[in-house]
Order: sequence, then C-alpha cells, then structure tokens
Amino acid sequence: RIAGPCSMVIFGVTGDLSRRKLMPAIYDLANRGLLPPGFALVGFARREMSDRDFGDIVHDAVRAHSRTPFRQEVWDHLAEGFRFVQGTFEDDAAFATLAGTLARLDAERGTGGNHAFYLSIPPDSFPVVLDQLHRHRLTSRHAEQGPAPWRRVVIEKPFGHDLESARELNELVNRVFPEETVFRIDHYLGKETVQNILALRFANQLFDPIWNANYVDHVQITMAEDIGLGGRAGYYDGIGAARDVIQNHLLQLLALTAMEEPISFEPRQLQMEKIKVLSATKLVEPLDETTARGQYAAGWQGGQEVVGLLDEEGFDPQSRTETYAALTLEVDTRRWAGVPFYLRTGKRLGRRVTEIAVVFKRAPHLPFDQTMTEELGENALVIRVQPDEGITMRFGSKVPGSSMEVRDVNMDFSYGESFTESSPEAYERLILDVLLGEPSLFPVNAEVELSWRILDPVLAHWAADGKPEQYEAGTWGPESAAEMLSRTGREWRRP
Ligand code: BG6
Repeated sequence: RIAGPCSMVIFGVTGDLSRRKLMPAIYDLANRGLLPPGFALVGFARREMSDRDFGDIVHDAVRAHSRTPFRQEVWDHLAEGFRFVQGTFEDDAAFATLAGTLARLDAERGTGGNHAFYLSIPPDSFPVVLDQLHRHRLTSRHAEQGPAPWRRVVIEKPFGHDLESARELNELVNRVFPEETVFRIDHYLGKETVQNILALRFANQLFDPIWNANYVDHVQITMAEDIGLGGRAGYYDGIGAARDVIQNHLLQLLALTAMEEPISFEPRQLQMEKIKVLSATKLVEPLDETTARGQYAAGWQGGQEVVGLLDEEGFDPQSRTETYAALTLEVDTRRWAGVPFYLRTGKRLGRRVTEIAVVFKRAPHLPFDQTMTEELGENALVIRVQPDEGITMRFGSKVPGSSMEVRDVNMDFSYGESFTESSPEAYERLILDVLLGEPSLFPVNAEVELSWRILDPVLAHWAADGKPEQYEAGTWGPESAAEMLSRTGREWRRP
C-alpha cells in the first residue's frame, strides 16, 4: 500500500539515527514508489541552515546509507518536499514557523493537515516539544474530528528508565497524543526475520504440537554484538545492556516466541496476545544465581586490539554500567510451565549474531549402544534473526559406516537462497507503517510497562550489588553467565 498525502517532521534531524536510518529509509520508500507524490519532509534542529543545505545533508545520508540504487528523478521529486525549520525546543517563534511551514505545505503539496512528528531526541526533551506542538495546535487533540487530518507521534526508546518513569512518560505523551496515535519504535519488530517468527509458528502444522513444555527443554535468546561503545557514552553510560535492549528487543522476541496464536492479525489481537504472555513472564529467584552481568575489558576483536569500557571516551572511569546482561525468565502458563527462557546480550562479544534457539528435551529412550550417541546433543530449532538470516533445525543422524553411530547434523533454510525478494530495512517498513497508520509492529503502552515490571527487580538487585564482572573483549561474556546455565546442567550455545 502507498501512504496518503502527508508530511513528516523530524526533531533531532541532524542526529546520528536520522542520518543513518531515517533519511535513507525515506529515500528508499520513495524509490520503491511507496510514498505519496506530495510527501514532505520537514527537518527541525538548532543549527542555522537553508532548505537547500538541509537537502544536501539528506543527500549525503542517502548516498552513504540507502539500500536501493540512487535515481536522480526520484531524488529530485522527493527533494521538492524538503523544508527546514531552525530553532531550539524552547523557542516559541520556531514552532510558530513550523506550524506556518506545515500549513503552506498543505496548500502547496496537498498534505491535507496529516502530520507525523518523529521525536528522534533525548526523552528529557519530550515534555517541552510535546507542549510546544500542543500550544501550536499541531497534536492529535487538535485533529480529532474524523480520520482526517491525522496527527501521529513517533518515539524512540528509551521509553523511561524504570516502570515509574515509563508511566510518567506515557502519561505525558498520551495527554496530547492518544494511545492510538503513538508509534513507539522497536526496530527489531521491523525486521523480516522477527515477523517470520509468527509465520513459522502459525502458518505451519509442523511446529505447534511440540512448541510447549512437554517437548521444549529451554529457550535461549541471544543478541550478541561485536561493536564496543566508543562514541555512545552520552546515551549508554548509566543505561546499560538490560535497559538498552532487553527491556525492548529481547522481551519482544520472547513475547513472539511464547505467545498464543492470535485470533487474527488485527493489531489489537496481536497486542492482546503479547500483553498476555508478558503478564505471565516472571523472573526466577534467587537473582544472583539466575542473572548475570558484565562489563567488557580490553581484548582483541577481529584481529585488532580494543580498549575496555572504562577507557572508552566519555565513560566515567568508575562506571558500573553493564555491557553484558543475562536473565532467566519463566512464562507461567500451561504451555510453558517450568521451561526457562534464557536471555543474553552483550557488546564486544565473539561475533555479531541475534538468534532464538528452541532447545528440545532429549528423546526419552535411546535404543543405541551408549558409545554410539556420545556426539548426539539436543534437538534444536534456531531462528537466526541476523546475520545469515534463516532457520536451522538440528537433529541426530546416522554417521555413514558399519556401526549405528549417531551425530548432530543441521538442516538449513536461508533467506538469501530461498527468496529473490530483498528485505526492506527495518526502519523503512516501520516509517511506512507510521504513514499508513498501521500499528501492528509498534509496542503499546501496556507492553512497555510490563517489560519494565519484569526488569525493575533485576536492575534494583544489580544496583545494590557493586560492580559488574569484567570480561575480556572478543570472548562470550563473563564467567557468571556461564555459571548461570551450568548450575542447571545446561550451557549457552556458541552460535
Ligand atoms: C539499538 C541499541 O536499539 O540496537 C544499540 O540501542 C544496538 O545498542 C542496536 O547496537 C542493534 O541493532 P541491530 O539492528 O544492529 O541489531
């Protein structure tokens, strides 16, 4: 579907996210013919510049990061709708200019009063920007009569710092943008492989009968990154791995893996099932045995020597911010009773990989000579979110030869080999959905609050527990994380 006429205003338009993801995604959408002819992009930032200078910034970002080939005619047409408004968030006159610019665009490009406001800014600036938008009659409270014109707000995490601040933030946003007009970006939900979890589970007969505590031993959800945090101290110090990605990306992956089948793919039905499963998700006590955290120390990565977090520019040398976090969770439902869900994430780990591994129980009986099954592990279904997107099934197979020896083998599905269609970048899909008013891939208020409810006790426990354990860069994380699993007789996969 092609979005209807509208404009998108980006606050924080000169920031990193905007250049690396938002501007290229907008161009790629235009290139695929998915933006309306009259689409307008309005940048708002403190820096002084003309519409033309702004266009140059977008141009550079597009040339550096877009996924689709550059086509001059697409660019020229898109660039006609670029406007720039200069000002600080406190500056009343700047918001009056913004309102005037949007009204002129309505007349010139037929955007019809339909505006999406993308807050790519630190959350402590939300109150003032929301207030300004409201005072200048730009929020959805001023466009309530009927479906058009619409007003929508897009917000990026962090959605608060804990449950209490998330509630305050939600209240603040909902005061001027009612919940159905709020689009919270969790870019993992924009990834093809993440959406495919639902197709795998609910379009097939094969998996559902064994997708439960009778057959599943445990689930491991891993988001490992090889990058460090150089350049991100301003955002990351004091936030840490659990708030940065477990609260959002990993708990969303858990919800999609563990939820019941929705009665349809209506957004409301999908949300209800995710809310249900997150409501049933609990930490396992005692937390010092069932959670682990760490901070990367110097080491080697990809043949290069790298510094530890405390020596990264901008980090407090006493920082207790964790760069690795692992949790044990259980989902208290009939389907999952007693099945641990292990979540882990870290920076500067062995390699970049995100995967969900559903690990099955061993066969109840093995009619083989014991020496013949020494290399037989547990069956597993591994959903590789990235890179090498695909799904692998691991099972035992006879080793060729005269004895009945059994060893693990893999059966692989790879997106690259099975499809000729290319996957849109996550932001492309999500921005299009904002313009279409399609909310399925955006977590609602309740999901955000439930995620904090799960995480808060761990954060409090860690805060009272001194410094995180150091782990060498380029390894698979702190010793305590390995112990967390070995205590239960299990071990982490080495993807
Ligand atoms: C972001 C986190 O949400 O996701 C970053 O803030 C992380 O710390 C990034 O690096 C990873 O995204 P992706 O799509 O590269 O897995």
